[in-house]
Amino acid sequence: MLEERRLGPVVGLGTWNTFSGNERLAAEVVGAALDAGIRLADSSPMYGPAESSLARALAGRRGEASVATKIWTASGVEGRAQLARQLAWFGRVEVEQVHNLVAWREHLPWLEEEREAGRIGRLGVTHYAAPAFDELATAMRSGRFETVQLPLNPRDRRSEELLLPLAEELGLAVIVMRPLGEGELLRRRPTAGQLEPLRRFGIESWAQALLKWALSDPRVDVVIPATSSPEHARANAGAGRPPWLGPEERALVERLAGA
Ligand SMILES: NC(=O)c1ccc[n+]([C@@H]2O[C@H](COP(=O)([O-])OP(=O)(O)OC[C@H]3O[C@@H](n4cnc5c(N)ncnc54)[C@H](OP(=O)(O)O)[C@@H]3O)[C@@H](O)[C@H]2O)c1
Repeated sequence: MLEERRLGPVVGLGTWNTFSGNERLAAEVVGAALDAGIRLADSSPMYGPAESSLARALAGRRGEASVATKIWTASGVEGRAQLARQLAWFGRVEVEQVHNLVAWREHLPWLEEEREAGRIGRLGVTHYAAPAFDELATAMRSGRFETVQLPLNPRDRRSEELLLPLAEELGLAVIVMRPLGEGELLRRRPTAGQLEPLRRFGIESWAQALLKWALSDPRVDVVIPATSSPEHARANAGAGRPPWLGPEERALVERLAGA
């Protein structure tokens, strides 16, 4: 379990659009991720049956992973119902995030009570869209969240302007969504020769290069690539180990990504 202020640097597992209610697939992916050392999985009520599939896939191995999930509703009654379902599935929620800032001011008081009671470990807040970053910064500055989830990859660096410096200043743990650009960054892959300078960093594939690019920013704690493939989950886990990339290697990844 991850209890200290920082969560990483580690590779986690995203669950948006991957299991489609297929519980056998979820068990295979989650099992492979845990076997490979992944210790955090991110989900949300927005992702349909992903949360319940994740819970069943974690059965018997719940103690091996932290669950980061979300409250996604403007209604306090529905928010509490979402948490009640999550507690039934997971027992405890290590990181409870307000999804896309929806009614974050209204949810905070009751979520803080739940944290006080120990049913929630940390509180977090998320958004994917740059026009919402000012409000995300306001939420971060409230001093009532311990984690922030934001998008970051070599072709989407908008979080570097305001959010990452702020997270560092305030001591918030950073969870990176869309580290592979929703798969877009994998469409055109560099050759083995182009990746050669990254091999001494333990990088064997383009996906690993992209994940390590994000994790090598010292302000980043967790990247949460989503995958429906046990093989990809195993490979992604490999990006979560040092040595981390320096400025030269990060610049190489940026060039290879066409950034
Ligand atoms: N507002 C929010 O809070 C918010 C918004 C967006 C995302 N998120 C979270 O962030 C997570 C990640 O973002 P995302 O799912 O949008 O995009 P992503 O993780 O950047 O990309 C996912 C895509 O990458 C592919 N992939 C993963 N590992 C691979 C590998 N090793 N080799 C080749 N392809 C690979 C997956 O396909 P395969 O299935 O074929 O592996 C999938 O199509 C989400 O699942 C969710 O948990 C949160």
